[in-house]
Formats: sequence, structure tokens, C-alpha cells
Amino acid sequence: MGKNNKGGRQLLKSRKEELLVLNNPKSPVAEAFRQIRTNLSFISPDEPLQTVLFTSSAPSEGKSSVLANLAVSMVQNGNKVIIIDADLRKPMQHKFFEMTNFNGLSNVLSGEIDFATGLRETGIDGLKLISAGSIPPNPAELLASRKMEEILAKARAEADLVFIDTPPVLAVTDAVILASKVDGTLLVVASHQTEQKLLLKAKELLVNARANILGVILNKYPVHQLNRYHYYHYYG
Ligand SMILES: Nc1ncnc2c1ncn2[C@@H]1O[C@H](COP(=O)(O)OP(=O)(O)OP(=O)(O)O)[C@@H](O)[C@H]1O
Ligand SMILES: [Mg+2]
Repeated sequence: MGKNNKGGRQLLKSRKEELLVLNNPKSPVAEAFRQIRTNLSFISPDEPLQTVLFTSSAPSEGKSSVLANLAVSMVQNGNKVIIIDADLRKPMQHKFFEMTNFNGLSNVLSGEIDFATGLRETGIDGLKLISAGSIPPNPAELLASRKMEEILAKARAEADLVFIDTPPVLAVTDAVILASKVDGTLLVVASHQTEQKLLLKAKELLVNARANILGVILNKYPVHQLNRYHYYHYYG
């Protein structure tokens, strides 16, 4: 499924079908996300985690898809959630919610628009999105700025949870920069895809940046009996 906006300036290929938590709440995938939701609340009972960054070692492990599904699962549990798409190089979150990518994070960071304009309704009650915005020439510098910290503080003030999408750790420095500014980091690992060596390297870079690594979400775990892919998770 895909559609164009009226001006035809931006192709909006939807990834909404991948929101299985929304489309098929009784599925094993939705149940797996509910388990991850519960586990997250157990990790830090005294100081609830509010800002959580999602990343991975390599591209295409499922960061964006896992984040969007977990965000919807959190909202279904009564939480107010803001998604910030800080993958300024390969913006994706707006596609899950069939939104445009105009007026996003890079535009707030550059001062073109204010925070309130960048924060948009997704159409799902309790879930708002700051999409990535126009692709800037200097994503790492923008994400390292004090303005980014201000945006995180404003998002914290308006939501129970703030989920942040980022590029892969080993590709560019963006995720490592942001990991030190958030309460916790989740590493998405694709089953049969992620090389252990790369995963360890990514972990080392995050630890050196004083990231609080909450754990790993194992994605793309093949369920042979059902002959299809299934989300699975563990923490450690
Ligand atoms: N559990 C899964 N089973 C099957 N396919 C999946 C699963 N999770 C993600 N995918 C597919 O893998 C691809 C990458 O997913 P996604 O964009 O969420 O990953 P990403 O880690 O955010 O990628 P990038 O590094 O480009 O930001 C997409 O085509 C998506 O449909
Ligand atoms: Mg992504």
C-alpha cells in the first residue's frame, strides 16, 4: 500500500501493515510486545525509564519496526508516548503512521519551527510523533547540540515515555551521541543476521559513551512450525 501527498512532492509508502500490535492484537507478535512492555517496567522500578533509545549494530535489524510496535503497545496500556525519529539519514517512523515528514526534528533543531509545531498527532490516541524532518547535511552535529537536550526535556514533560529511533551504531556516530542523553538504550538484534563480532563492537561503543544498555530485543526469530517470522525477546 502506498500513496502520494497532494503535491506529489513526497512519496508516502506506508509501513502501517507492520504495526501488528495494532492490526492483530491477539497475534503471538502482539503478545511478545506485551511481554517486552512488562519486562521494561521491571528493569527500573524505582526510577521509571522515560527516554528510551532504540538502536542496533548494523542496518535493517528492525529498530524502527520494533520501536513503532512497542510504542503502540505502551499506548494500549494507557501510557502517553512520544516517538522521536532521530534517524535523520533514513527517516522511517512517519511511514508507520501514514504521515508526511515535513516539519520534523531537523527543522526544530535548526530553529525553523518550534517544538509544538514539530510534535504531531499520529491518529492513535496517546501517541505523538516528531518525525525526522528534512535530511540535513550535518545530522551528528545537530543531535549533539544543546537544542537536542531541550527537545528531550520538553518531550519528557509531555509524555510518560519517549522512544527515540536512531541509525545503526556502527554506521554513524548519531546513536552513540544520543545514548548518553537518554535514560536507557535497547539494542535490536536480528536473529541469523547480526554478527556477534559486530554486536560486541556496538556494545563497546555504547558502554564507552556511558550508555545505560537495558538489554537486547531479538527480532526476526524464525518460527519454523508456523513457517513465518516472529518477534522474540530476551534481556541480559
Ligand atoms: N520480525 C520481522 N520479521 C520479518 N521482517 C522484518 C521483521 N522486522 C523487520 N523486518 C523487515 O526488515 C526490514 C528492516 O526493518 P526496519 O526498517 O524496521 O529496520 P531498521 O533496523 O530500522 O533499519 P535501518 O537500519 O534501515 O534503520 C524491513 O523490510 C522490515 O519489514
Ligand atoms: Mg530504521
